[in-house]
Amino acid sequence: MQTELMHWFDMDAPVFAFSHCRDVVAAVSRAGGFGVLGTTHVTPEQLDLELNWIDEHTDGRPYGVDVMFATRPPEGTEQLTVEDVKRVIPQANAQFVNDLLAKYNVPELSREESESLLTDYMGSLMRTHTEAVKRLDVVFRHPKLVRMIVSALGVPPVEQIERAHALDMKVGAMVGQVRHVKHHLNAGVDILVSAGYEAAGHNSDIATLVLTPQIVDAAGSTPVIHAGGVARGRQIAAALALGAQAVWTGTLWLGTSEAETSDLIKKKIFAATSADTIRSPYNTGKPTRRLKSAWTDAWEQENAPKALPMPLQSILINEALYRMEKYEPEPLVTYPAGQAVGMLSQQNDVRGVMYELLEELGTTLVHMQDMLQGEGD
Ligand SMILES: Cc1cc2nc3c(=O)[nH]c(=O)nc-3n(C[C@H](O)[C@H](O)[C@H](O)COP(=O)(O)O)c2cc1C
Repeated sequence: MQTELMHWFDMDAPVFAFSHCRDVVAAVSRAGGFGVLGTTHVTPEQLDLELNWIDEHTDGRPYGVDVMFATRPPEGTEQLTVEDVKRVIPQANAQFVNDLLAKYNVPELSREESESLLTDYMGSLMRTHTEAVKRLDVVFRHPKLVRMIVSALGVPPVEQIERAHALDMKVGAMVGQVRHVKHHLNAGVDILVSAGYEAAGHNSDIATLVLTPQIVDAAGSTPVIHAGGVARGRQIAAALALGAQAVWTGTLWLGTSEAETSDLIKKKIFAATSADTIRSPYNTGKPTRRLKSAWTDAWEQENAPKALPMPLQSILINEALYRMEKYEPEPLVTYPAGQAVGMLSQQNDVRGVMYELLEELGTTLVHMQDMLQGEGD
């Protein structure tokens, strides 16, 4: 099979894979899909190293990079420095986080480690368009194999779209609301990624089965990729039936041997059902989906503070997430994941996952063809 989008990127499989892990990105592109690297929390210098590595490990296959054009930061926080953070973050919110970690005996960091973590985090945060553009400056130095940039949040600025087009790169954008489509199209976006309710990370309050066909209709001739909930070939067939030209996956790769996830996170992922994720604003300030744990339960309690606006909520919880990753207090540990997590039960490698997806897609399409010809059983 072939869709216009697959033709653009010389893909064998209609599968895009988002990951923060360079090994997954390269392996997906090598397997005939299209890997897309997430860049939240890497500095421009680190990003350059990651892209050099991926350039050398995709066997010449193309891949993409995802950046964030976040909306304007809250008044007075545009130039937020490390020193400002303690002033701007309410004491009660910081206390809530500290109390929660203390309740689960999570060791504290030394003062130096805590301060250097905060300094690094502030240096890597994409709070403003200027910071996103610094990542793009790096990306545009890798024009041979980076064939697409994607905006995780917000409409990409026209001048950045033009820079990408001058290098023959496509520009994509995540959309969770039909009314946002026209803004992206007016700016010159080439591909829309319809990210629905089931998806990990920032998503939509609308289910994918309802969202994708509406985005397809609003997009006209612009190709749409369906994001959210896909872990089987049958679901790829369904996404194609909705009018999408490919699927965009994230959760599916968390259980692969190439993934960045620790053994404990993998264990939680394989044990989780589709009811074990929660969509809430306590990760970044905007709704995102992740695995439920004692951490997410605590934020849902009545006495919990309200989520701070972007980027303050992620600054507030950054050290806590780091300590949870470092010390792995089992009840608290959580990770971004979508409802498709309930369909993952054991580790496989990227090539194996891709093979299973395509095999089931093939049999599903044949089955549908048989049904059409009245030969189904
Ligand atoms: C661990 C993880 C982190 C994510 N972080 C981002 C991100 O930084 N930017 C982004 O555009 N999407 C992010 N996403 C969402 C994916 O791009 C994608 O929309 C989503 O995973 C698709 O739905 P699925 O999880 O059901 O496959 C993340 C997904 C996962 C699993």
